[in-house]
Amino acid sequence: MRILGIVCSPRKGGNTEIMMEEALDQAREMGAETELILFAGKKILPCDACDTCLETAVCKLQDDMQPIYEAMERADGILFGTPVYLLNVSAQAKIIMDRTYACLFHLKLARKVAAPIITARRVGVGQVLSLMNSYFSVHGMVVAGFAAGYGRDIGEVREGPGMTPIYTALEEARAAARSVVKLARQLKKGKG
Ligand SMILES: Cc1cc2nc3c(=O)[nH]c(=O)nc-3n(C[C@H](O)[C@H](O)[C@H](O)COP(=O)(O)O)c2cc1C
Repeated sequence: MRILGIVCSPRKGGNTEIMMEEALDQAREMGAETELILFAGKKILPCDACDTCLETAVCKLQDDMQPIYEAMERADGILFGTPVYLLNVSAQAKIIMDRTYACLFHLKLARKVAAPIITARRVGVGQVLSLMNSYFSVHGMVVAGFAAGYGRDIGEVREGPGMTPIYTALEEARAAARSVVKLARQLKKGKG
């Protein structure tokens, strides 16, 4: 069982990464192998709409996205982290989302289990949750939950609430990871 966490913030050690680390800790405690990918420090180009991938299922842009494709394909579950930027996903998240066009028509991500991890100072989590869930649906992925955390400065998310009334942000990150691992296990079992 492999769980991949992708953090699409330009800030290393930021709130999204803090939540992701918590989620991946939980996944490891449940026996999963985990992998963390940070967009920060990577050079990843936006999709240039060449459409080569429609036939080949491979993106011709040779950059730091190539190992991310491999990690996404080997993962059973994907936790996708983004901060809210101007009531939307971060530009970094959108670049990765668009580049997975190369996975779309050959269903490379279909039936993988997914959950978004979203951070914001105050507003926009609901909109970003809808966008992320639509993105997962387009790929035929199975959404297992979500986590949201609030804070602006690095580390503030540790103290804040999640989106649900019963969890702090970090507890919500752990709950999202639990759902992803459990559902991914059930799906694997179902495959026989
Ligand atoms: C360019 C930019 C736009 C932002 N837009 C929003 C926003 O629309 N709503 C919000 O609540 N917070 C917004 N924020 C705050 C971040 O979502 C917040 O600081 C978050 O914790 C950052 O996560 P990180 O530490 O992982 O980068 C914005 C921050 C930046 C830099």
